[in-house]
Amino acid sequence: MAKLALKGGNPLRTEKFPSWPQYGKKEREALDRVLESGVWGTLGSEVNKFAKRFAEYQQAKHGICVTNGTVTLEIILRGLGIGHGDEVIVPPYTFNATVSSVIFVGATPVFTDIEDGTYNIDPEKIEEAITPNTKAIIPVHIGGRACNMDRIMEIARKHNLFVIEDCAHAHGSEWKGRRVGSIGDAGSFSFQASKNLTAGEGGFITVNDTNLYEILWSIHHCGRDYHGKVWYDHVRIGTNARMTEWQAAILDAQMDRLDEQIEKRMANAQYLNSLLSQIPCVEPMVHDDRITRNSYHLFIFKYKSEACKDLPRETFLKALDAEGIPCSPGYISLYKQGMLQTEEMKRITGSKIEYSKLYLENTEKASTKEGVWLTQNLLLGEKKDIDDIANAIIKIYENVDELL
Ligand SMILES: Cc1ncc(COP(=O)(O)O)c(C=O)c1O
Repeated sequence: MAKLALKGGNPLRTEKFPSWPQYGKKEREALDRVLESGVWGTLGSEVNKFAKRFAEYQQAKHGICVTNGTVTLEIILRGLGIGHGDEVIVPPYTFNATVSSVIFVGATPVFTDIEDGTYNIDPEKIEEAITPNTKAIIPVHIGGRACNMDRIMEIARKHNLFVIEDCAHAHGSEWKGRRVGSIGDAGSFSFQASKNLTAGEGGFITVNDTNLYEILWSIHHCGRDYHGKVWYDHVRIGTNARMTEWQAAILDAQMDRLDEQIEKRMANAQYLNSLLSQIPCVEPMVHDDRITRNSYHLFIFKYKSEACKDLPRETFLKALDAEGIPCSPGYISLYKQGMLQTEEMKRITGSKIEYSKLYLENTEKASTKEGVWLTQNLLLGEKKDIDDIANAIIKIYENVDELL
């Protein structure tokens, strides 16, 4: 009789993990408040209040509420004057938007590998990708884990490059006590449905420089002048990327829960890492004291097939899922994706890079062999939920022969 659930045995767990999103009376009241105010859009009091609140939370001087965390990147790139002929350094291990935004403004993405121990862009490989056309770097704080911002800022200053932090996963995360999104020239956040702070969709720009803030604000508001008084006067090319009052009101209510949730995820992640470090076929990501706060949008760990009789990761993931632990293999390296091989991409950017020929070792290892993702809601449970995750992995490890 098989023990593993994938082979017909009893699953280790049948209870569900905490669901996402979480909501209550505050969210209902927020929706009622907007409904009855009669102001449902166009920079109303909810949007303005949340812009201030979230910018302060991220320790940034200014904030702009935007439709989503893709358009935020496009607006930042445009606002910094980046376009055709320019190159932007990006990691390949990220969501599509980090790279599509670069192409969208006509610039060329140049890929730099990630670190094996963190899955964040490797600062030590950035300099070899810099050319006279390089204008910016987009570090992505993967899963909420802050990138090495000391090294990235040092390199950026040396080569006169902009730094756009992609903080889509990293609400409340810190590098050496400093909140992400306030370290580089601008930060981009997402409030899409899976995110740790969500209104279903939504985005946010953090920025310290007041002049850049006014430009980005103008772009998101159809190109109207920040100080302008005439409604139908448009001073620059912009778009309508304004957030609705509904979204801002929900986000304001969700923010009241954010710190408590981050603390819970961090405590559970620390406990889970301690359990995983004792299991031979998995490996936690490296610990770094400089990361003073991690939002843990994702809990990432490595699967080591060589310590599990060469069982492929895909089978391990299926077996883990069958035991009642939802999991996924995570990102596929972006340079391999169809988007970068299209004629349209070449036409828009003028890029001659043959992306399909790229092979960045750590990205390949993370995306095809080792990376395992658990979503943030799994870390909102209690000790028993975390024990179940580790015990399910141990069960697979001990009964691996059933799967060979
Ligand atoms: C790293 C990263 N950047 C950007 C985005 C884009 O955000 P949105 O979905 O709000 O457009 C996402 C969303 O998943 C993301 O994960």
